Formats: sequence, C-alpha cells, structure tokens
Amino acid sequence: ATDLTGRHFLKELDFTAEEFRGLLDLAAELKAAKKAGTEVQRLRGRNIALIFEKTSTRTRCAFEVAAADQGASTTYLDPSGSQMGHKESVKDTARVLGRMFDAIEYRGDSQAAVEELAEFAGVPVYNGLTDDWHPTQMLADVLTMTEHSDKPLDGIAFAYLGDARFNMGNSYLITGALLGMDVRIVAPKAYWPAEAFVAEAHRLAETSGATVTLTEDIAEGVRGADFVATDVWVSMGEPKEVWDERITALAPYSVTMDVLRATGNPDVKFLHCLPAFHDLGTAVGRDIHERHGLTELEVTDEVFESAHSVVFDEAENRMHTIKAVMVATLGAPAGA
Ligand code: CP
Ligand code: NVA
Repeated sequence: ATDLTGRHFLKELDFTAEEFRGLLDLAAELKAAKKAGTEVQRLRGRNIALIFEKTSTRTRCAFEVAAADQGASTTYLDPSGSQMGHKESVKDTARVLGRMFDAIEYRGDSQAAVEELAEFAGVPVYNGLTDDWHPTQMLADVLTMTEHSDKPLDGIAFAYLGDARFNMGNSYLITGALLGMDVRIVAPKAYWPAEAFVAEAHRLAETSGATVTLTEDIAEGVRGADFVATDVWVSMGEPKEVWDERITALAPYSVTMDVLRATGNPDVKFLHCLPAFHDLGTAVGRDIHERHGLTELEVTDEVFESAHSVVFDEAENRMHTIKAVMVATLGAPAGA
C-alpha cells in the first residue's frame, strides 16, 4: 500500500491515481472489518480537531464515528465556537491547534484558508469541504461506484448534472480525470468548471486515459452512463437571491426518470452528496416552494426514492472513507 503518513488531504490534485486508489482500497478493508467485527484500532490516543465554519450532518458525524471506532477522540468547533476568522488569524489558529492535536479537519468557504492551516499546523489537515473542492466526498462517491458496478474504475462512465462551478462539479471533473474514468459535466456553459480546472482535467486525462466531456446537451452527456450525479443548485454560503437565476438556468438539468432513461442503461445508478432538495418538505424547501412555485429541484422524488438511487450507501461510505484518510495519514502501522 502507498504510504501517506503525515500527508494533508486538501484536494484531489495533490494525489496520484495510485495514492487515491490506495485510500479506496483501505476504506473497503476498513468497511469490511467493521462489518465483520474485526476492526483493529490504529488511532488510539490520537486527538483530532474538527473546525466547521459551515453546517454539516454527514461530514461531522463521519469524522466523529470514524475516530471513535479507531480509538481517537475529537473536538468539534462550530461556526461560533472558535476565535478563528473573527479574533484570530488562520495562521495563529493553525499553530495553536497543531500543538494540541494530531490532525485538523476544516470546513469553510475558502480553499486558501485550509491550505494556510496546512502550511502552519505541522500536523495533517483534512478538507471537509470548501467552495472549490469536496475531496472526502469523492472518496465516498468512487467507493460507492465500485460497489455498484462490475466494471474496473477506468471502465466506469458518470455524468454530473447541475452547477459545476462549485465544489462538487470541480471535484468530480478532477477525480474522474485522475482515475481514468469517463467523466461528463452536463450543464449550461456558464456553469462549467473554471478553465484552469478543465485544463488540469485534460492534462490528467493524457496519462490516465480518462475521457473528459463538457456539454450542454443532456442526451449526449448521459448516454451510456453508469452513474448520474447531481448536487444542490445553491450551495452553502450563497445568498438566497441567486435561486431565481439558478432555477431558470438549471431546471432543464434536473435529474428526472427521463434523464435516467436517456442513459439507455436500465441499471443506471443515481448519486447525490446530500442534503438533497427532492421533496421540499424541509423549512428551506418550503421557503423555495413558496417563493418560486417549484415542487422539485435538482432531482425528482421519484428518482431519489427509486431503486436507481444509491445515495444512502454513498452517505454511509463517507464514514468508511474518512476513516481511511485518518488511518492512512496518522495511523499506527497495521499489526503494530
Ligand atoms: N455531503 C456532505 O458533505 O454532507 P454534510 O454537509 O451533511 O456534511
Ligand atoms: N455544493 C454543496 C455541497 C454540500 C455537501 C454546498 O457547498 O453546499
């Protein structure tokens, strides 16, 4: 296995395909061991700081449960619970927490902030989502794809529909390109990832053999896909005012049964990092419904609740894959 001791986990571009696949293999091993009741604790006595400047259900719980399973303890710092950003710089926070903790997870807007933490903490720093990347989510998504496909990774085709200028779109583009997959970004051109990231994807594809497609055409984009993925149209930290513009631009890219049929693949599976707006039964969902008159957004309830949907396997895999990141970067050697 590849040795990632002491490494940060900040963005997919920092890893080779072999390293990324190594993390997936480790996650699969850890998942199997937990299910079999044979998990060995490799993080005993470790202390991990979890800084969340944005809310979270999955990522926070994944870190906490994974750490507990492995014998480590966690300290959760919520958006108002630390001095960072308000009273104290990222650089000073990094140097303080680095003296107390063995690793630091950070979720916030800014990729620059998580990179700065990593530069000054002196311990591994993990990106729990920024506006640019969601790398721990990618490990979970690719693990889920391998579990729901008979094909090797470089034989899998997946299409991402929706706002692709943000964390999920960027991360899918680069991860697919890194791992030699057939990755399609299906969105209005104005919602494609930044040129620099597209160029990186093409550069990676030259060595990985990936097929990288960006298209506005849904039929072309999803044809033959093994997986169809989407994300919310408005991300955390964005103002409510952008809903109008997003709905106008992205409504045609909603994942409906017609979209799944257009793949031509009766076994196509649906992925969503969650939370998802599929029934609008939540407070935020009701507000969108009242203000915009819509009942369904990025995915229909029919798709979400169908046999195509593997979103809860994907959510569970957040925990096994985040465990792999911590064990690989911080863990005692297996069998030690
Ligand atoms: N998918 C994901 O990151 O979920 P949370 O925002 O609940 O952590
Ligand atoms: N793009 C979404 C992902 C949430 C997990 C957001 O940033 O809010």
